[in-house]
Amino acid sequence: MKNTKVVLQKRPDGAVSESDMVLVEETIAPLEPGEVMLEVEHLSVDAFIRTTFDEGAFHGTAGLGQPIMALGTARVVDSRFEGLNQGDAVFGPMGAQTHAKLPGAMLQKLNEDELPARCYLGVLGLATGMTAYAGMVKVAQVSKDDTVVVSAAAGAVGSCACQVAKNLGARVIGIAGGAAKVDYLLNEIGCDAAVDYKAPDLADQLAEAAPDGVDVFFDNVGGDILDAVLLQINERARVIICGAVSQYERTGDVQGPTNYLKIPEKNASMLGFTVMRFAEDYPEIQAAITEWVLSGQLKLPEQVESGIDQFPRALTLLFSGGHMGKLLVAP
Ligand SMILES: NC(=O)c1ccc[n+]([C@@H]2O[C@H](COP(=O)([O-])OP(=O)(O)OC[C@H]3O[C@@H](n4cnc5c(N)ncnc54)[C@H](OP(=O)(O)O)[C@@H]3O)[C@@H](O)[C@H]2O)c1
Repeated sequence: MKNTKVVLQKRPDGAVSESDMVLVEETIAPLEPGEVMLEVEHLSVDAFIRTTFDEGAFHGTAGLGQPIMALGTARVVDSRFEGLNQGDAVFGPMGAQTHAKLPGAMLQKLNEDELPARCYLGVLGLATGMTAYAGMVKVAQVSKDDTVVVSAAAGAVGSCACQVAKNLGARVIGIAGGAAKVDYLLNEIGCDAAVDYKAPDLADQLAEAAPDGVDVFFDNVGGDILDAVLLQINERARVIICGAVSQYERTGDVQGPTNYLKIPEKNASMLGFTVMRFAEDYPEIQAAITEWVLSGQLKLPEQVESGIDQFPRALTLLFSGGHMGKLLVAP
């Protein structure tokens, strides 16, 4: 079986560029007992992938010349693993490649009766919809009395997080870059207000969008945006650190929040989380999301780039603001 994989050829110094990655062709060895041969159908383009390009990364460091980490869905083309057969759809750590040979025990067989397999990377995905749900429901414990702000709101996690908070009855304000994303947040995602952080007046826009202050900040970005929202938080606010995409391409130290004294002044809390903390709750979270999707209360637009050669460019789009909703590559 022939495979084309994307490997890391050089560690980026700051912003990731397409030339940091290169395509390599290989022949995959025959299956050993317990293994499965897969044709990859969709790869999830996630912000965490960029962090694996650096030494000492939380999610593990990508080796030079090694396939880039990526979650994906695939079709079984051959199996020596009991429980998986030719034609089954699976989810797992595919890596950025067209084909994969993996132990069957590392794969989750997908039920395609209600939703297509690629939804397990997006609205039902561990690093997307399930992260948004866990952060809003389990960590922030959002209620109808809350004014909720979400950063990177037009991205994958952000688009879901806004809708989860709306479904819990909150007033929701999305922050994203540019007029097209503001329009998307208001007209596709159903935010009550949207703020363009690339415009010069972020603080004024935030004050106008949240005249009564902010009860919950679901932060995907960190840096200057975190600092701007901290100035607007209410008494007992919950600042939830989901991620800090503005810091993943830094060359020096992480920029911590300058305005963190607002936390004690407002008797507020700042809580971080990883979705893995809620592993015991995954079935419950997937069931709740599926119900919302089927009832039309939760949707996640997808942007699908075709061809494994598009994977390097797709990864750069996450940091240049070049996509809306869930970014996928169909190799
Ligand atoms: N805690 C967890 O378990 C967990 C799990 C999965 C993901 N995450 C986090 O969730 C966040 C979103 O990840 P995702 O994979 O869904 O990506 P995404 O939101 O689809 O893409 C990243 C978005 O970040 C925005 N962005 C990039 N650089 C920025 C900057 N310097 N300043 C402001 N905004 C910037 C871009 O939108 P604009 O055009 O608006 O700039 C882009 O759309 C990341 O922080 C990620 O680490 C956390």
